[in-house]
Amino acid sequence: MKPVRIGILGLGTVGSGTVNVLSRNGKEIARRAGREIKVVQASARDLKKERACPTKDIKITQDPFAIVNNPEIDVVIELIGGYDLAKELVLKAIENGKHVVTANKALIAVHGNEIFQAAQNKGVMVAFEAAVAGGIPIIKAIREGLSGNSIEWLAGIINGTGNYILTEMRDAGRDFSDVLAEAQKLGYAEADPTFDVEGVDAAHKLTILAAIAFGIPLQFDKAYMEGISKITESDVEYAQAFGYRIKHLGIARRTEQGVELRVHPTLVPERRLIANVDGVMNAVLVKGDAVGPTLYYGAGAGAEPTASAVVADIVDVVRTLTTDPNNRVPHLAFQPDALSDLPILKMEDVETSYYLRMQVIDKPGVMADVTRILSARNISIEAMLQKESAISPKASEKKSGDTASVIILTHRIKEKNMNAAITEIEALATIKGDVMRIRIEQLNKEWD
Ligand code: NDP
Ligand code: HSE
Repeated sequence: MKPVRIGILGLGTVGSGTVNVLSRNGKEIARRAGREIKVVQASARDLKKERACPTKDIKITQDPFAIVNNPEIDVVIELIGGYDLAKELVLKAIENGKHVVTANKALIAVHGNEIFQAAQNKGVMVAFEAAVAGGIPIIKAIREGLSGNSIEWLAGIINGTGNYILTEMRDAGRDFSDVLAEAQKLGYAEADPTFDVEGVDAAHKLTILAAIAFGIPLQFDKAYMEGISKITESDVEYAQAFGYRIKHLGIARRTEQGVELRVHPTLVPERRLIANVDGVMNAVLVKGDAVGPTLYYGAGAGAEPTASAVVADIVDVVRTLTTDPNNRVPHLAFQPDALSDLPILKMEDVETSYYLRMQVIDKPGVMADVTRILSARNISIEAMLQKESAISPKASEKKSGDTASVIILTHRIKEKNMNAAITEIEALATIKGDVMRIRIEQLNKEWD
């Protein structure tokens, strides 16, 4: 049988990793797929740049449209990234009747509904396993392995760069920007690294996970997102003092009122497995009604871990080349005409516990003001810690402007009550600067 001919758009970190995995494991992959898989053409911006993979049998072009319009190519692999060009190329490939594999979560989260509709009309596949959690086969696990369950919630560390930064800050006391620069060098970070540190990348991935978990359309614009850029070393230490770790989590949860879709730093009890997922590793906890909690763990970024998922998608596409399009696994797990219109909750209606850190002027009555404000909003305190700044002076030596850090852990309360309380606390003359707020989740079995 003739080999399946592949065209790769983008020969950077993931593109080169994909060529390397296909050439190293080619024979075994062909035994799995039933056909030989051959990369015949690839595109890149800079033809002079040295590539991290063998390219002697690949025709390299600067024009990615030459690939999507090449009648010799059966499957297009989109590894350029970004929204507009990638969308144009993918839609063109689909129009030309080609199957598409992509690692581009931004593309799927924002334009996926339109792309899947176009693919449906043309009877071609668009596979995107590498778009979420790098090498972890989480899309397959939820879409196929858990298809007998009603998924109740999922929570994941789904940005490798962010987790790498938080881990290095905690374990080695390293500076945020140094670690980010290293993650960029290692090929983990997005072309625009603010996507990693401000939660955009994780929100893209969460949008995709929520769609396949709950059978809802992709709704990136309704995701709440907050990054890790405001977390300080002190927050990491204080969280530890209370028995928690700070992890940047994507959480999607079905409630009676609608779907929670939120990405933010979260205090997680340190005894949970997910709290111990460090470095560039990702993990996703999925709770199904039948199976209970399940945990998926692996490398969340990097050339070959991501290539592992890209190649698995290529194998899936090759295996299904002869399958009736109506009998394939649906793009978003649920049949396209059976998606539900469950509302996405506004963040102010979500309920969590909180870690609050504030800088207070160290004088009598300050804490009474803070606790009065919290109690007026029905916010009850679980634990409190006061840390004098630098070396604590004796009471007799205290000056009127001395400040102390106060850390408060609260019980669960709606976000809107907490927002109102924080606004009131920040307005107190005895509070310096903003109140740092990090949400807390226990992520235990009982969280239904
Ligand atoms: P890179 O920046 O390493 O590679 C991008 C490739 O696309 C390069 O070959 C580049 O050419 C080419 N390219 C970029 N812009 C253009 C353009 N405007 N026109 C034509 N070609 C262009 O990115 P990655 O490999 O890291 O990421 C690719 C995709 O995979 C992204 O969607 C990313 O989000 C996703 N992803 C990345 C992971 C990772 O660990 N890196 C993990 C999971 C997903 P040139 O080399 O000449 O500059
Ligand atoms: N920039 C992404 C991350 C790549 O760090 O997780 C993998 O999607």
